[in-house]
Parts: sequence; C-alpha cells; structure tokens
Amino acid sequence: MGLTVLVVGGGGREHALAWKISRSPLVSRLYAAPGNPGIARHAECVPIPVADLQALRDFAVSRKVDLTVVGPEAPLAAGLADLLAREGLLVCGPDRAGAQMEGSKVFMKTILAKYGIPTAAFRVFDEYDDAEQYVLTHRLPVVIKADGLAAGKGVAVAQTYEEAVAFLRDVMERRVFGDAGSRVVIEECLAGEEASYIVFTDGTKVVPLPSSQDHKRIGDEDQGPNTGGMGAYSPAPVVTLRVEERVHRQVFEPLLAGLRKEGITFRGILYAGLMIENDIPRVLEFNVRFGDPEAQPLFLRLKSDLVPLLLQCAQGKITDAGMEIDPRPTVCVVMSSGGYPGGYTKGFPIEGIVEAEKEDGVVVFHAGTATVDGRLVNSGGRVLGVTAIGDSLKGAIDRAYRAVGKIHWEGAYHRTDIGRKALRRGAA
Ligand code: AMP
Ligand code: GLY
Repeated sequence: MGLTVLVVGGGGREHALAWKISRSPLVSRLYAAPGNPGIARHAECVPIPVADLQALRDFAVSRKVDLTVVGPEAPLAAGLADLLAREGLLVCGPDRAGAQMEGSKVFMKTILAKYGIPTAAFRVFDEYDDAEQYVLTHRLPVVIKADGLAAGKGVAVAQTYEEAVAFLRDVMERRVFGDAGSRVVIEECLAGEEASYIVFTDGTKVVPLPSSQDHKRIGDEDQGPNTGGMGAYSPAPVVTLRVEERVHRQVFEPLLAGLRKEGITFRGILYAGLMIENDIPRVLEFNVRFGDPEAQPLFLRLKSDLVPLLLQCAQGKITDAGMEIDPRPTVCVVMSSGGYPGGYTKGFPIEGIVEAEKEDGVVVFHAGTATVDGRLVNSGGRVLGVTAIGDSLKGAIDRAYRAVGKIHWEGAYHRTDIGRKALRRGAA
C-alpha cells in the first residue's frame, strides 16, 4: 500500500503540486481540497474550502491521510499544521508560530533585524499619527506594509507623500485590510532586480529549488497594478552562484538558527523574496509556501520525486542530499480574466487547452477554472498557467506563447513579455 496524500488548495500552484505528486510511485491515493478541474485529472477533489480547518482535519483523520501538503499561506497562519499535528498526522508546512514569517511583517522584520539578516532598514508603528509623522520625514520613494496577510495588496511603494499618506490612512484608519492593518512597517525602498528563492527545510537543513522569477505587475514592462503573479521562469540569471552562496550563508543559516532560538522549528517550504543589486541579495519578504506561479515552472524542471522531500520536511528530518533538476529552462505564462486584477469577467467557455498541450514540452495548469454544465469556464482572476520547457530560455518562451495562442475565452489576457528580462540579461 502506498501513501495517501492530501493537497490543500485549488489554484495553479496546487495543480502543479498535484500533477507532480501524482507521478510519484510512492503515492497510491491523492486528494485535493477543494482542487479545481485541472487538479481533478490527477486527484480526487473534495469540496472543503481551505478556510475550514476543522473539516480539513476531520477529512485527513477519517481518510487516514499520510501526508498533507498545504498550498496557500492562510490555513497555515490560521494553525492548520498545529491541528493536524495534534492528531499525529504529518503535514508539510509550518505551524502557526512559523507561519508568522509570512503572516506578520513585523514579526518577520524583527527576526531579520535581530539575527543580522540583510533587509531594508525599517520601523514599526501601531499609531497612525506617529506613522504619518515618520513617513513625511522619510525620503521618497517610501515603502509601507500592512503587518498582516492582505492577499498581496498590503504593500505600497509610494513615490509621493500624498500617495504614502493615502495608503497609510487606508491601512491604519479605514482598515481596508481589517486587523492586518493595526500595525505597519515603514521601510526604505531597495533598488535592484527581484527573484524568488525557495527551499525545503526541516528547521535545520535546507534543500533549495532552483531560482525563479515572478512578474507581479499586470502589464508588459512591469507597468500597471500588482497581481498575484502573471508569469514566472526558472532559472533566474540574476541569482548567480555568488548570490546563491550568500543567500545560504547570510539568510537561511542565520534565520533557521534564529528561529530555533525563538523556539520555532520550521518544517516546510520557505520562500525568500529577494532584491538583488550587484550580486548582493536583500530580503523583501518571506512566504511559508511555494510561490504561485513559481511552482509551475519549478516543478516542470524537477526530475526526481517530490514526495520524499515533502515527507522529510513533515517528519522534521531531511536526509536527501538534493534533487535532480532538468538543466533546461522553463517558463509559465499566466492567462487571466478580462479586468483582472480589478473586478473581472467570468463564466466564459475556455477553448483550446487540448490543442495547446499537443505542443511539445507544454503543460497547462489550471488556476481559476470551473466546470459548469459540463463545460470548462473561467472562474477566477488568474485562470491558467501555460508552462513550457525548452532547450533555451528563448525556446521555452516561444513554446509557451505558441500554446497560449491556441487558448481562447472572452476577455482572456496575458502579458507578452514573460522571461524577456532574463533574455536581456543573457544577451548583456
Ligand atoms: P512584499 O509583499 O513585501 O514582497 O512586497 C510586494 C512587492 O513590493 C515586492 O515584490 C516588491 O516589488 C515591492 N517591495 C516590497 N518591499 C520593497 C522595498 N523595501 N523596496 C523596493 N520594493 C519593495
Ligand atoms: N508569486 C508570488 C507569491 O507566490 O507570493
């Protein structure tokens, strides 16, 4: 008898997880809660929302789930791993204390400062008047962050004092993110190029995935408002060997040792959002889960089985030396609904996925899709992650866009420049 695994979540990252986990010879049964129509090709989807922690626990207990893999941060911050652990169940994902690395910017920045980990200089405020006074003396641009989880919208990089004060008011006075805005971090703006660096950890040992880079803005050339991520590729050339070595020595080693001193053994996935300038990495943020859409191109490069590492993280003892990575680069182009990241149009039939997947080396991951009356329709902001591997980055980009060109629904949108920054860096 193989393992029974439960994937929690229903987006593109979770489809990539389910796709990869379903290929493991160790797994005989795979569930996803709530999953999506793409995930349903690899797993049995159960209609439990990620916010219903008790129902997730009861399901895992009754189905004797051997390993739960949590995709999104919210259930971890709410204590899902603690609930499962209390039942003696294995979970890849930190407990509530560890999840504060993403759930509280104040906690995260305080830990970074305490253990000397490179990050933007900052101050914390819990009174609006003090925060406003400080912001008005800070040089521009100034970065303001709501303390708690705000679905990626809790950060402003303000170019003017008007903008800074307006955001501060929204967060601390109007409480547009609720209690997430009871405290703020105000920090200096860092220059450089961003990259994502994601590792598996048992609290001491670290096994890294290759580097990757997200595209957070909705428009080409990084214009327009922030989104959940409009595309990603791996590797990110800005993460040189030197950067990688520094990230291990200056970030992960002191961080995990620091967390252990604080009584936190972090078991799961740690994602460092980095700003890199002249080979010097500084931490912008931590996430306590895989990136979305970074997981999609990363798992397409992963040749070895993902399950042993997930299991070892959950057990708190990583014994694997590493994993086998395809040297070829991968690219994921996100297709989104018309109007996203604002109010978007949905319910339109999606055509062409089967044709797109006939393209060599292409996998189409579902994010915001649903089946209505037997037809696949768009149902979320980010709808599909069209992911391709190629002999070169250019080859992977061309393949991904050829596949994107075959997929249609009313209002569908995508960026046309995913990976271009890396191509430019390669040419330079
Ligand atoms: P965060 O959620 O902290 O990663 O912030 C979201 C985005 O805001 C990041 O991906 C960056 O593009 C930007 N950002 C955050 N902090 C800074 C900073 N200190 N300097 C420059 N940009 C930042
Ligand atoms: N792609 C950004 C994130 O997963 O937070």
